[in-house]
Amino acid sequence: MSNVKKTYTDAELKNMSDAELTALGAEMDGVTVAFRKPRFEVPNDPADKSASIGVGIWALVSILFAVAFLAVYIFWPWEFKTHGDEGLAWHLLYTPLLGLTSGISILALGVAVVQYVKKILPEEVSVQRRHDGASDEIDRRTLTALLNDSWSTSTLGRRKTLMGLLGGAAVLFGLTVVAPLGGTIKNPWKVRHELDYSGDGTLWTSGWTLVEKGVKLYLARDTGAVAQMHTSQSGSHMTTQGVTRLVRVRPEDLAAGGMETVFPLAEGDVNDGELYDPEKDVYEAQMHSIHGNRNAVMLIRLRNSDARKVIEREGQEDFHYGDYYAYSKICTHIGCPTSLYEQQTNRILCPCHQSQFDALQYAKPVFGPAARALPQLPITVDEEGYLIAAGNFVEPVGPAFWERKS
Ligand code: FES
Repeated sequence: MSNVKKTYTDAELKNMSDAELTALGAEMDGVTVAFRKPRFEVPNDPADKSASIGVGIWALVSILFAVAFLAVYIFWPWEFKTHGDEGLAWHLLYTPLLGLTSGISILALGVAVVQYVKKILPEEVSVQRRHDGASDEIDRRTLTALLNDSWSTSTLGRRKTLMGLLGGAAVLFGLTVVAPLGGTIKNPWKVRHELDYSGDGTLWTSGWTLVEKGVKLYLARDTGAVAQMHTSQSGSHMTTQGVTRLVRVRPEDLAAGGMETVFPLAEGDVNDGELYDPEKDVYEAQMHSIHGNRNAVMLIRLRNSDARKVIEREGQEDFHYGDYYAYSKICTHIGCPTSLYEQQTNRILCPCHQSQFDALQYAKPVFGPAARALPQLPITVDEEGYLIAAGNFVEPVGPAFWERKS
């Protein structure tokens, strides 16, 4: 227990300096300042100046890299590029540069603060004892004094430049944290390019939208094929010519109770079966289909006994082909792939937040945070027996947004 005197008159308190009140406050809080010494006892000590410059340099480094981060974030070519695209090398530097500049900025700010504490603030060793007790008037007065004393001993008041630099570094570093949020704000109505496998840039288009333009779209599975070694008279090299990444699917390819992930494959990009041509190079186009972020579709073949229990959604009665149902794989909660189909229960599970959808009832949500059904793709079979899209989705794929009606 501290035996420090606890009651003081107003006059006594008024006569005490901030340093005395600080020491008193510390004692009353069970803290004894065992040692305290200013770093620079002599006014205009050159060591004071050099410590200040050292801290200022780190703050300046932090500012420069925060500005560099903002410049990279705004001006560097960030648009997605893939193999063979012009400017791929510059694009690949985008993320590392963001990490590097923001990392150095926060590191330098941290070093500046640590240097400030170690080189400019007074040296102090305090010992704290455990204690109980509520704050009273004297505690409040002494705490105020402590804050006043901290401010005056920090000497920041007379180091205007340093204060500006540290403040600037803190504000600019804050910007490096906040600015990237701007990248998440996009105009959902803006058409950014011609309709292709990735849609046209608006939120309600996907590769499947091509069907509205009269393109015949097959449901195709990803074989995982990659570039192959090609040997000719001129030597050996890797090539994607003749490599088929996506192949068309027929109903008999799927066992009852099975699920397959399929992607849109335009008629002109087919390179399998009787249309196989070893000279054809459709690899890149097919990869664009796979990478289209709203393209993945679950093709489910219900067991015959289950198919009889299906409840169709109004207006979608003819979207299925026999026992085959195609639902968007993009969760309507926040867009994870709903990859798990459980044939015993006919539930489709999203692993992200455990939403469950009933495959027997137009993939409506039956558990978890998702509030909307997975959009159903109308499908049929062409004259050659391949599964094709019979139309586009009738609602946007993926998470809810304000344009959605369902
Ligand atoms: S993204 Fe599917 S449940 Fe959250």
